[in-house]
Amino acid sequence: MRVGGARYGGFVTETQPTLDVPTPTNAPRGEGADGAVRPVEFPVPQELASHGPARIIAMCNQKGGVGKTTTTINLGAALAEYGRRVLLVDFDPQGAASAGLGIAAHELDATIYTALMTPRFDVTEIVHETSVPGLDLIPANIDLSAAEVQLVGEVAREQALTRVLRPVTDSYDVILVDCQPSLGLLTVNALTAAHGVIIPLETEFFALRGVALLLETIDKVRDRLNPRLRTDGILATMYDGRTLHSREVLQRVREAFGEEVFATVIGRTVKFPDASVATEPITTYAPTHSGAEAYRQLARELVARGDVA
Ligand SMILES: Nc1ncnc2c1ncn2[C@@H]1O[C@H](COP(=O)(O)OP(=O)(O)OP(=O)(O)O)[C@@H](O)[C@H]1O
Ligand SMILES: [Mg+2]
Repeated sequence: MRVGGARYGGFVTETQPTLDVPTPTNAPRGEGADGAVRPVEFPVPQELASHGPARIIAMCNQKGGVGKTTTTINLGAALAEYGRRVLLVDFDPQGAASAGLGIAAHELDATIYTALMTPRFDVTEIVHETSVPGLDLIPANIDLSAAEVQLVGEVAREQALTRVLRPVTDSYDVILVDCQPSLGLLTVNALTAAHGVIIPLETEFFALRGVALLLETIDKVRDRLNPRLRTDGILATMYDGRTLHSREVLQRVREAFGEEVFATVIGRTVKFPDASVATEPITTYAPTHSGAEAYRQLARELVARGDVA
């Protein structure tokens, strides 16, 4: 599956779109006519007999606050629950993925920044276990913001993260890279290291703004740096089926991107920020909550689509 910037450029509009309200006959997959998110059946993944090499997935959207970090943590935790060996890479100087899993990255001397900037650095030194069995994390802190500038002068500056991850790729089934909200050199590094991209999209009016530019960037990286890169899918997040607005936006996103949109939709719930405060994934903080089930469903969907082993 590939999403091309040019193909979808025309859908990105600054003006008020005219939208169809979902009805029982045209309600998108995953939601009923009342807008409630319904589970879509994907089979529980089979156990893996052996592990690795990992498929690397970048969680990417230059728009801030769309659910990149929440998706990285909770999809990672859900895949780990299904027996996958998962490595999260915090690739945002804000360190939200590290903080969300209880790792005080600001106190660490060695982080992803150290690995990027130090030749022959042993990356296993910065792999931290989390409270979730099978879920490891490479942390980031504010030091990483300097890498954006420092890498510019380096040879193969776009491949720095590829080099860092190479020695650990065989130890994991999936590596999720939590990008910062920008299309700068760090994000290009993530796209160069990745096999796939997941684009979380907040289900609100301006969600589609900037998506054309993101898809263009993905196309450029595919052409120039990483031919294997593909867009795994667009994930609708923070969906509130009680509001007509949310339903209209989701409908429009599905019209624009069709099959590229995951059937799984992540609902809006305060349990996500609550889980972050508790420094846990929602899958352990509120294991039976619909938010936890939504990320388990996304994990099952990814495995069913062959995007994860
Ligand atoms: N489905 C959801 N329902 C309610 N709140 C959510 C949901 N997903 C994320 N949030 C909250 O929204 C805020 C932004 O989410 P998150 O940090 O995952 O976005 P992000 O795209 O990583 O942001 P940034 O671009 O700043 O890195 C956080 O406070 C998070 O707890
Ligand atoms: Mg984030």
